[in-house]
Order: sequence, then C-alpha cells, then structure tokens
Amino acid sequence: MSYLPIKQLLQSTTTGHEVTVKGWVRTKRESKNAIFIALNDGSTINNIQAVAEPGQFSEDLIKLVTTGACVAITGQLVESLGSGQSVEVKAANIHIYGPADPEKYPLQPKRHSLEFLREIAHLRPRTNTFSAILRIRHALAFAVNKYFNDNGFFYLHTPIITASDAEGAGEMFRVTTLDLDNLPRTEEGKINFSEDFFGREANLTVSGQLEGELGALALGKIYTFGPTFRAENSNTTRHLAEFWMIEPEMAFYELEDNMNLAEDFVKYVIRYALENCADDLAFLENRLKEEEKTKKKEEQSDMSLLEKLRFVVDNDFQRLTYTEAIDILVNSKPAKKGQFQFEVKWGIDLQSEHERYLVEKHFKKPVILTNYPREIKAFYMKQDEESSASPGPTVRAMDVLFPGIGEIIGGSQREDDLDKLMARIHEIGIEPEGLWWYLETRKFGSAPHAGFGLGFERLVLFVTGMGNIRDVIPFPRTPKSAEF
Ligand code: 4AD
Ligand code: MG
Repeated sequence: MSYLPIKQLLQSTTTGHEVTVKGWVRTKRESKNAIFIALNDGSTINNIQAVAEPGQFSEDLIKLVTTGACVAITGQLVESLGSGQSVEVKAANIHIYGPADPEKYPLQPKRHSLEFLREIAHLRPRTNTFSAILRIRHALAFAVNKYFNDNGFFYLHTPIITASDAEGAGEMFRVTTLDLDNLPRTEEGKINFSEDFFGREANLTVSGQLEGELGALALGKIYTFGPTFRAENSNTTRHLAEFWMIEPEMAFYELEDNMNLAEDFVKYVIRYALENCADDLAFLENRLKEEEKTKKKEEQSDMSLLEKLRFVVDNDFQRLTYTEAIDILVNSKPAKKGQFQFEVKWGIDLQSEHERYLVEKHFKKPVILTNYPREIKAFYMKQDEESSASPGPTVRAMDVLFPGIGEIIGGSQREDDLDKLMARIHEIGIEPEGLWWYLETRKFGSAPHAGFGLGFERLVLFVTGMGNIRDVIPFPRTPKSAEF
C-alpha cells in the first residue's frame, strides 16, 4: 500500500485517486450524515480529514477510532466541501494499528497546560504546540548547518567527555565508573582517580570551545554543534542542565568580525524559519495571541510573534561597550527608583533584569555588549589595552542580548599571546598542566582568533515565542528532574 505524508497529500492538486493516510487520530466527530476523523502524522500542523458514512463500518471498529489511536485509512482523495481544507479522504477501509483507551489516554482534544504536558514529555510531541516547536527546532538546526557549510566552515565534532573546565566555573558533571560505595583512596585520603576508567578525572563538557580553537588554528573556520552540560543549580525559564550549543571559531577574526558574523548568522537562521516554517509559526502566533488576551493590558506585547522575528532580521543590532551600558543603567529610572533587584555598578555581572532593560526598554532592539570587565569573564578572553574609558581592565568579550531572553550569545576574541594567557591562568589559579595541549597552539603558530557560543534552546525559545526553555527541547534536564 503506497503511503504519503499528510503534508504532501494536503498539497495535492489532483483528486480522484486512491490514497492511504496513516497517523494518530486527533478528533472524531459523528453527525447524522457522516463521521469525520481528523488525522495527523506529525509531518505538518494541519490534519487531514477522513469522512465515513454512518453504518459503513462496524460499530466496534468505529469505537476504536478515538483520540490518540493510530490508524491507516484508505480511500479516494476528494475535494473537501467543508471549510478549512481543500482535500479529504473518502474512507473505504480503516485499519487500527494501535487503539488508545479514551479513559486512560492523557491527551484529550482540548488545550492542556504546559506544566501538565511537561509531566508527559513522552506524549507531548503529539500535540499541535509541541509538534510545531519540534519542526521549527529541526528547521533551525538545519539552517545552522547550512549557514556554516555555505560560508566555508567545517563541522568539528568536539568531545562530550573532557578533562578540562572550559568556562572555569566549576559547573561540571563528573563522569566516573568508580564504585561510589567503595572509592579507591590515595595515601593522603583523596579519591584515587588513576584507578578510574580514563586514569584521571573526567567530566561532561560545558563547552566545545577549547577544542574548537584547536580546530580553527588548523582548518581556519570551524563550528561545533552538540550537547553541553552545566551542573548549575539555576531553576529559571532560561537554564537547562543539558543544552545544545553552536560554537563557531575562526582564525584571523577579531572582535568586530566576530560581532558581524554573530549578527549575520542569527538573522539568517531566523529568516530561514520565517521562510520555511510559516504554518507552524502562524499556529504558535495565534496560540500566543490567545495567551496574551488573558494578560493585563499593560503586560500585553505590542508586537505579534512574526512582527518580533521580522523586526530582528530587518534591523541592525545596537552595539556598545559594557562600560557605556553601565552608564545607561545607572542613570535609568529603575536604578534611580531602586527597582532593580541587583544593584548596578561597574564590575557586576549583568543580571537578566539589566540585560532586558537595555534591550526591551532602552534600545528596543537586540544589543551587542562588548569589552566586559576582565574579572567576570573566562580566562581565555583577549585582554584589552588599558584605557581611561573604563574604570578597570577589560577583555574583548561580546554578549548578544535578545528581547524576552537576555543573553543568547556569549563570545570573544581569544588571548593569542602566550605570556599574557599564562599570566592570567596563574592569576586565576588554574593549573596549566591540564591545558598543555591548549597552550601549545599559542607556542606554535599562534594567530588572532575569535568565536562565540549560541545557546540553541534560547534561539528556539525566541523563534517560537515560548516562555519556558523546558518547552523547546524534547526531553528537558533540569535540577531534580530527568524523568526519561
Ligand atoms: O556564555 P557561555 O557560558 O559561553 C561559552 O560557553 C563559551 N565557551 C562560548 C564560546 O565563546 N564558544 O554560553 C554560551 C551561550 C549563552 O549565551 C547561552 O545562550 C547558552 O550558551 N547557555 C545556556 N543555555 C541554556 N541553559 C544553560 N544553562 C546555559 N548556559 C549557557
Ligand atoms: Mg555567557
């Protein structure tokens, strides 16, 4: 039996031939003259309608056609008389692959809360909202690979298990095969990792950057796109313990080139979604409009989802230094009225409330902040020349801040001067022995280079207009939650 995805069938321009549709029943509606079955196979947000005549099939069979059941329906593809679809299937045969007891099936043909759906992550891809998000997620991932491929970057697969802490924040998950009930100890009583699988301590990677730098200093332009892990106890709508990160790294790029690339890249992938996910985005936009109606007038967004996305791709991002941003924040209304939860002064790590004030209230567009204080950034960032423009030493860092999200990209030009890098490593107290391989690139043929990391789920969050990062990854991992 031939079988076409529903997406293709709905685009059919010819009718009259026999087709088979397969998928999960969304709804069944019985009227005096007909039984309408809405079927979805995940290929598109749109259902295909199959129509049967009352009495055409046994009652026992029709009883099994319930929301959630998996069925195959064969029949003629005909023009639809109903509104909402151009073609439908005149059912001649119904085969039940798997029934779904309506008393027990958790998904009903109504809107469920996102919180409830999080508890049934194994079934939520069958809802309109999640299938739309997952298709958009796919399109964005594809666009990422396409952008880099078309622009001469090589996809470098950096390791998941590493010995180093790239960000130096101590937020790593340990990987071990040691018997936790009976840990081998050294004479000093420390855990003896030389008896562990790798003969040393090992962790899940927090970033592929350090290995990415090795790649850039050999292949020129590379990117990584893989899972990264952070054992940070942040229970927010923007943090996951396991998230996917895209990290390009480019030889001969300086901070300015890095900013240009980040802006061009992020606009490209959003434009790709606008051009290739129109149906799914329209569905999510309507969903958001409904949600907005339940909010107070002053909290309602003045732009629809599509307007927000177009606004980002059509406008230049605002670029300014950290020092200039602090100036703006210190003189802002919320700072003067004491409305920020965290005090603003030069040297602080900007909180999401500060980032969102700059983006949403002050500039009203995406912002790229540069030249952050050295003390709040990672060891590998290139140190700026001392200047009277800032109250303390800064590095050639850049963060891209987005409306509704805050930081979506973090990056920098890298320190390529071995002496400066070593001095910084000693200052911070990192053990250089573990980084010998990284340091060799500065010893042998060092070159200016730069790169950044885009949190993939934060991008999907922005493009789908969803409010919680747990809802844009199929199986979210957060503190005290990794059910599947
Ligand atoms: O700013 P981060 O920590 O930078 C790095 O890891 C660098 N090594 C990147 C580089 O230069 N190659 O993380 C980069 C981005 C953030 O801007 C954010 O979008 C995302 O990764 N991110 C997270 N996303 C979800 N959950 C978390 N816990 C995240 N932590 C960072
Ligand atoms: Mg960061």
